[in-house]
Amino acid sequence: MILAEINVHITPQEIELQRQTINSIKLSLSGEKRYAMVETFGCQQNVNDSQRIEGMLLQMGFTLTDEKDLADVIIFNTCAIRENAHAKVYGKLGALKHLKAKKPSLVIGICGCMVQQEQIAKRIKSKYRHVDLIFGTHALWKFPSLLNDALEHSQKVFDISGEGSIAEGLPVNYDGGARAFVSIMYGCNNFCSYCIVPYVRGRERSRSEADILSEIEYLSKNGVREVMLLGQNVNSYGKDRGETDAFAKLLLKVCEISGIERIRFMSSHPKDISPLLLHTMAAEEKICNQLHLPLQSGSNKVLSDMNRVYTREKYLEIIALAKKLMPDIALTTDIIVGFPTETEADFEDTLSLLREVKFDSIFSFIYSPREGTRAAQMPNVSTPEEIDKRFQKLLDVQNNISYERNLRHEGNIETVLVSGRSKTDPDMLTGRNYANKIVNFKGDDSLIGTFTDVKITKAQTWILYGEKL
Ligand code: SAH
Ligand code: SF4
Ligand code: F3S
Repeated sequence: MILAEINVHITPQEIELQRQTINSIKLSLSGEKRYAMVETFGCQQNVNDSQRIEGMLLQMGFTLTDEKDLADVIIFNTCAIRENAHAKVYGKLGALKHLKAKKPSLVIGICGCMVQQEQIAKRIKSKYRHVDLIFGTHALWKFPSLLNDALEHSQKVFDISGEGSIAEGLPVNYDGGARAFVSIMYGCNNFCSYCIVPYVRGRERSRSEADILSEIEYLSKNGVREVMLLGQNVNSYGKDRGETDAFAKLLLKVCEISGIERIRFMSSHPKDISPLLLHTMAAEEKICNQLHLPLQSGSNKVLSDMNRVYTREKYLEIIALAKKLMPDIALTTDIIVGFPTETEADFEDTLSLLREVKFDSIFSFIYSPREGTRAAQMPNVSTPEEIDKRFQKLLDVQNNISYERNLRHEGNIETVLVSGRSKTDPDMLTGRNYANKIVNFKGDDSLIGTFTDVKITKAQTWILYGEKL
């Protein structure tokens, strides 16, 4: 067990110092319109971290923009999960070089999981000299003072220290309308053999229940109707404090908050998900009958090599219980294709499991070796061509299943939380049903931010269409 003592709660005094720095930056900018751009790569946790950076920037007096030519501060919040996540950032950093040459006062910052890897942070520091500010996931709460050093003292700033912190009380820019992300814990203890997350996010540490509930109460008072509770493995919530079943208990408390009508969470780890959690989901109206349960592979040999600590049989048992308790449950998962020890027969085991479970949708990834992880040392038994073929096969099989799963919504009347106009079809409103599936339908703007009953008239593989009742 990981002892609570290693979790460092940033003291209120340290937070106060950051708030003072926010105010002093605001004073120094006063009267001048300054723009800041934050670009986010990676998962919801990173989206939530970027909302914190944006919250701080807004309080400093910056106006947020998507136009890099307009920006006085540009921050890339990066991801390290696969090599292509790195490649995207290198490409974008290179492209900023001429912008910095034209406008030397521009502050370019890079933060997040990619630069929490020391070798990468050092490489960026030496090769991309137009970058002013490099800070890791653990130094996020210090953003005001780090930015101040870059702005005031034109200093190059580098901080990837401070593993294991929890910082409360800094501003957040909640911009998702009626839906919001709430991080309930940080880090991961699982060390799946392919994964970089435990190295860049540190060990598991849970926010206090009181802090989480007061954040959600605040959100509810400000129009949020749906919360997504975030953690790399929410089923471990509270374990760092020696608590058991703390996640199910937390969910029950969130259910009591008036104004919050829908509760979702991700991710769950199959080795830790408890029958109690599934029973709680089934019993509580507000907890959506929707579960993201990353599988990774249907082969017991590969699961063992991945250090996932469950078997195909155990996974199927959980799914069977979930379906029994919630016949309408929508299931999604993550699959890795081409793990070093995966053979054709192992891949067939994954396909057979997909056919058996019939997930509503899957997120599939080609395995990408990550420096420093155990799997990166394993020799690869398949060629890239074989892996590409498997990946394509996986998509074909799943697309048929997803379409079939979407068809079951046709004819239903479903409640949609409307988020806005569809980007691809501005004639339509868009929102999500209980299953977290996108539903588009015609209606006027007054419905945005509300729950609206919609009759589902047509299903496609990725989307549902309906008519407002
Ligand atoms: N904590 C979450 C997952 C976070 S990462 C969980 O365990 O469920 C999201 C997904 O990225 C993982 O589920 C996995 O499918 C994929 N992934 C992680 N590392 C990867 C790698 N090295 N190559 C390819 N995909 C990877
Ligand atoms: Fe990575 Fe595994 Fe942790 Fe998920 S549970 S973040 S896949 S190490
Ligand atoms: Fe998320 Fe990528 Fe970091 S998936 S936790 S942003 S490595």
